[in-house]
Amino acid sequence: MPLHVVDHPLIQHKITIMRSVETSTKKFRELAGEVTQLLAYEATRKLTVSPEPVMTPMGPCEGGGLKDSKIVIAPVLRAGLGMVRGMLDLLPRAAVAHIGLFRDEKTLQPKIYYQSMPRTLESATIFIVDPMLATGGSLSAAARLLKKAKPAKIVAIALIAAPEGVKRMEQDHPDIDIVVAALDSHLDAHGYIIPGLGDAGDRMFGSYKIEAGARPV
Ligand code: PRP
Ligand code: URA
Repeated sequence: MPLHVVDHPLIQHKITIMRSVETSTKKFRELAGEVTQLLAYEATRKLTVSPEPVMTPMGPCEGGGLKDSKIVIAPVLRAGLGMVRGMLDLLPRAAVAHIGLFRDEKTLQPKIYYQSMPRTLESATIFIVDPMLATGGSLSAAARLLKKAKPAKIVAIALIAAPEGVKRMEQDHPDIDIVVAALDSHLDAHGYIIPGLGDAGDRMFGSYKIEAGARPV
């Protein structure tokens, strides 16, 4: 099973605050970054380190260094942008591949509207970041796009997943590990995760539609 639910107390605490309708956009963004970093700890577990000699004040030491020139962070716009900073703080030399993709509200089918890929995708380890894995259509499409560049490995990091999305990924991309903070109950008739946290992009960037109701500031 390529799904890893990281049920660390710190993550569960922060995700609970993110779910709350009372949580402001500013707080939501801060927590998204913090949870991303905690999930990254698990998601980067299989990265390889190369031997790297280092001189400590006490003498020579055989250390190990990450080859993060071959690491790419791939946010799925918009909401995935809120997870980039957290990843880059940990992997400062990683490149970023932007994938502009939205889910058609009626058909729930993903539509790619933008892509900006670094040249380093081939044989890289790519971390796709997107807070929500709902039907799985968006993540599956992003992975399909990235695979054209022949990366060595793809890992997906999401905050909350629905069983429907996990199943879709298992069918379409069984080779991709998925690291999440929570696996929720199900999708509603509009493809929203229940209980979830609402529209992640709107909550991240404060772009609530009037009719959507409560808008914490
Ligand atoms: C959200 C979310 C995922 C997608 C998940 O983005 O950030 O990309 O929906 O749904 P799926 O698993 O059913 O495809 P959305 O399409 O709302 O775009 P946005 O980030 O621009 O708000
Ligand atoms: N996209 C979101 O932002 N939230 C959901 O619950 C499902 C898709």
